[in-house]
Amino acid sequence: MKRLLLTLALSGCAWSGAQTSAPVRPDLPAGFTAPEGYGDSIFPALGDAGLDVTHYDLTLSATPGTDSLQGRAVLSVTARRPLTQIGLDFAGPGVTGVKVNGQPAQHAQVGEKLLVRLPSPVAAGAAFTVTVAYSGTPALHPDTSVSPPGSGLRLGWITQGGGSYVLSEPDGAHTFFPCNDVPADGASYSLHVDVPTGYTAVASGVQTRRQTRGGRVYTDFELSEPIPTYALTVHVGRLELVTQPGPPGIAIRNAFPAGTPGNVRAAFDRTPEMLGFLAGWFGPYPYPVYGVAVSEDPQIPALETATLSTFPSRPEAPTVALHELSHQWFGDSLCLGDWSDVWLNEGFATYAELLWAEAQGQAAGPIVDRWYARLQHEPARGLTATEAAQLFDASSYDRGALTLHALRRKVGDDVFRNILRTYVARFSGRSVRAADFLNVAGELGGPAALEAMQPWLSGPDLPPSP
Ligand code: TRP
Ligand code: ZN
Repeated sequence: MKRLLLTLALSGCAWSGAQTSAPVRPDLPAGFTAPEGYGDSIFPALGDAGLDVTHYDLTLSATPGTDSLQGRAVLSVTARRPLTQIGLDFAGPGVTGVKVNGQPAQHAQVGEKLLVRLPSPVAAGAAFTVTVAYSGTPALHPDTSVSPPGSGLRLGWITQGGGSYVLSEPDGAHTFFPCNDVPADGASYSLHVDVPTGYTAVASGVQTRRQTRGGRVYTDFELSEPIPTYALTVHVGRLELVTQPGPPGIAIRNAFPAGTPGNVRAAFDRTPEMLGFLAGWFGPYPYPVYGVAVSEDPQIPALETATLSTFPSRPEAPTVALHELSHQWFGDSLCLGDWSDVWLNEGFATYAELLWAEAQGQAAGPIVDRWYARLQHEPARGLTATEAAQLFDASSYDRGALTLHALRRKVGDDVFRNILRTYVARFSGRSVRAADFLNVAGELGGPAALEAMQPWLSGPDLPPSP
């Protein structure tokens, strides 16, 4: 939940025009054309509309205490149109080599893009691999999703104290690996992380190997379900791994920096119970593993990194733990087709807090009133975000949650649960737009369901509290 930090700190897809006819920018090296972007309405320059990355195989060599990183990324790509050049997002350390299908390829780092000329043209629908080797110090990326700009976090591969960890939402992933950095293009991951002996690496996914050789520990992780790039995390440091008994089929492992006090760990005591509770409302938890990784920074907001949510080193309320766990369904498994629909992440995770509170015997009223009061303190807007600074504002969280409350009040608990579960089952592992949720709500709840949500969706005015 990002607002905790704030309190503390007081186009359409570019399908038109063949790439060869794209304008040549003066800063482009000879032989390259300007990249087009994926077409996200908030970050139009990010990504490449010609690419569907299906899998990232990442090898990361880290040495805690230093901020240098050696990386090798192998991207499995399917062409969404005929291609002669691709533009990956990459603001990372120096590239030492690029290959396409194993053949050396001409490349250029221009701004935050890594342009690669394909050794031979690729037909629409064809699959190919891109291998990028790089080495150096990843530069952090200013978080543009805060207002005023510059007041926020720095995203990417963060080195602090005795370790490093990753915090990328919304656009920090391309600081440490080349990628199609839009949530609409989810992918699965194989991760190979090596650190000096005495250090531990944990990452998104199931750990499949851990081996010590030549003074280093090699650990592999496999995540077969597609996730957005910003949801990938890796933590390295002097970490203690603590397991909890999970529901059948789900392993729970948490990573705490050595010496993490009990009052920081306590927020996660009820993870097994929360997993069961949320599965009751949303349907089965989407991954075979879950847990949290606590960073060494007491100030960062928590982030829903896939299968391994990232937390600050401070005592958090259990509702924050519940919020990040809810994002594993809403954000990680069902990923955003466009950043403008971010309320599909934040509104749903915020609403889950109310569902949990009710199950603990609390009344919904005061929580609803709190959300509503917060909205009265900032300019009202409809639910579709139109600029980066709106992504994590009160409208995404509280107006999003109140939209779901208005729906639930209209259709009742059984239909509401059915809508949530159907939406999750239908779009698990896929990208979603607001219309996808509204279609499910209309199908199962009828026109009255849509009418109840309409004034919240369209705005800008704040409707009466539901
Ligand atoms: N998605 C986070 C939450 O609400 C908030 C968030 C947005 C965030 N960008 C971030 C947290 C960057 C940490 C870093 O749970
Ligand atoms: Zn959230």
